[in-house]
Amino acid sequence: MNLLPILVVSALLLALRVSGSTLEARTCGVPSDAVPFYRSFSSSRQDYWYSPDGTAVSTAIRAGYELQEVIGLIFLTQEEGTAPLYHLVDATHQLYTMNITEVAVQEQHGWSGSNLNPPTLYIYPDQVCGSIPMYRLFSAATEGYFYTTSSAERLEFIQNEGYADVGITGYILPLGCS
Ligand SMILES: *[C@@H]1O[C@H](CO)[C@@H](O)[C@H](O)[C@H]1NC(C)=O
Repeated sequence: MNLLPILVVSALLLALRVSGSTLEARTCGVPSDAVPFYRSFSSSRQDYWYSPDGTAVSTAIRAGYELQEVIGLIFLTQEEGTAPLYHLVDATHQLYTMNITEVAVQEQHGWSGSNLNPPTLYIYPDQVCGSIPMYRLFSAATEGYFYTTSSAERLEFIQNEGYADVGITGYILPLGCS
């Protein structure tokens, strides 16, 4: 009796089962791939600027920005469950959004995309995989946006700094999550 066809079929079934369970388990990005998302601030431009790029942060510091903190961890390539975080710039300010329709609308208003093609920042669109909200605020006075993962800081900026709540941009990993 030739056992070979039976062996081949069982090997195939085993492979299918293994890849099936692998797919189910991989609905989150790999936390150790996530990198710090630095927040820097220029008081002369009243500009909050966020970047995972340490070299760019050093350049910004030499140009007068002050490194404030790491607001959380983000991905540089698209991982399981994540989607692009688009970065737009105008003359003095930064805008981060996951909403591609907003990108198109803001481009009509003088903003231009710095990482649209290809995207270079990825975060979760939903609160999954241990992620936390990245809140977005807007100052009518400076016309600048402010992003934070701290609900205390969010309240402080709304109550004392004249910022308005613009909702949640997306979800990033908290510091120390790896
Ligand atoms: C995306 O942006 C557009 C344009 O600003 C807006 O009308 C729409 O409500 C936004 N969608 C979501 C899900 O926020």
